[in-house]
Amino acid sequence: MSRIAYVNGQYVPHKDAAVHIEDRGYQFADGVYEVCEVWDRKIVDMPRHMDRLGHSLSELKIAWPMARKAVEFVLLETIRRNKVTDGLVYIQVTRGVARRDHFFPSNDVMPSIVVTARNTSRSASDRQAETGISVVSYPENRWPRVDIKTVALLPNVLAKQNAKENGGKEAWYVDADGYVTEGGSTNAWIVTKDGVLVTRPAESGILRGITRAVVLDLVEREGLKFEERAFSLEEALVAREAFVTAASTLVMPVVKIDHAIIGNGHPGSIATALRDRFHTATDLQVV
Ligand code: PDD
Repeated sequence: MSRIAYVNGQYVPHKDAAVHIEDRGYQFADGVYEVCEVWDRKIVDMPRHMDRLGHSLSELKIAWPMARKAVEFVLLETIRRNKVTDGLVYIQVTRGVARRDHFFPSNDVMPSIVVTARNTSRSASDRQAETGISVVSYPENRWPRVDIKTVALLPNVLAKQNAKENGGKEAWYVDADGYVTEGGSTNAWIVTKDGVLVTRPAESGILRGITRAVVLDLVEREGLKFEERAFSLEEALVAREAFVTAASTLVMPVVKIDHAIIGNGHPGSIATALRDRFHTATDLQVV
């Protein structure tokens, strides 16, 4: 089946989809994005993703490319046209196309919007979750405004590539004080020896992950012991369990951090239970 992308008002074959060479996303990484999960023909937590998109846009003073309801319609329609049952939908909004100049262009330049959607293999992800992943620590290399989901992901690309070259699937950023901030494209969690779940507060140093928020709801509902505080890499290396969360991975157990085996080297029971129950706590909208 041929894939379809939405580009600035038109649904076009994916292979022909293009934006202008002077799109500010291309020249300045002057844009933002969201990635939502599609699960069983349902889009997961669209309102929360749209709220965060609104936050990213307003922090960068980029206008919505169209009304929020219309953006939601385009997401649903792109999923439908690509016959996505389990997968991801991606939306990117940039400040638009203008002659290269660092200053914002005039107000009549419309933001650019691109939406793509594709199936991913749920069974491959579940198989990965049965063995768990390794993560590789990396010095924090990003600007402080990581609450904005900008397309300026070069620091993340470098951290994740370093993880890959060292046998890992994800990077864990460590700040100058030795605390883990988050993953290259995920939020980071541990379970202490006493069975307490720990994740860093979203006030600084991390993206306010939607999957993280859902897991927090789940943790509360299930009455699990929980602390929202920073944890050091040292503490993580001796944790009973570790895991990451993101729309692209859901709850993914971590079994190795650098050279340290976490727990017994197998996915922990809390991470596995949270993964199993994840969709009972999400907002699901039928596509
Ligand atoms: N990444 N932290 C960072 C730096 C991220 O890029 C992401 C998501 C998350 C998790 O957020 P959420 O739970 O809302 O997906 C945390 C997406 C999936 C990506 O870049 O592909």
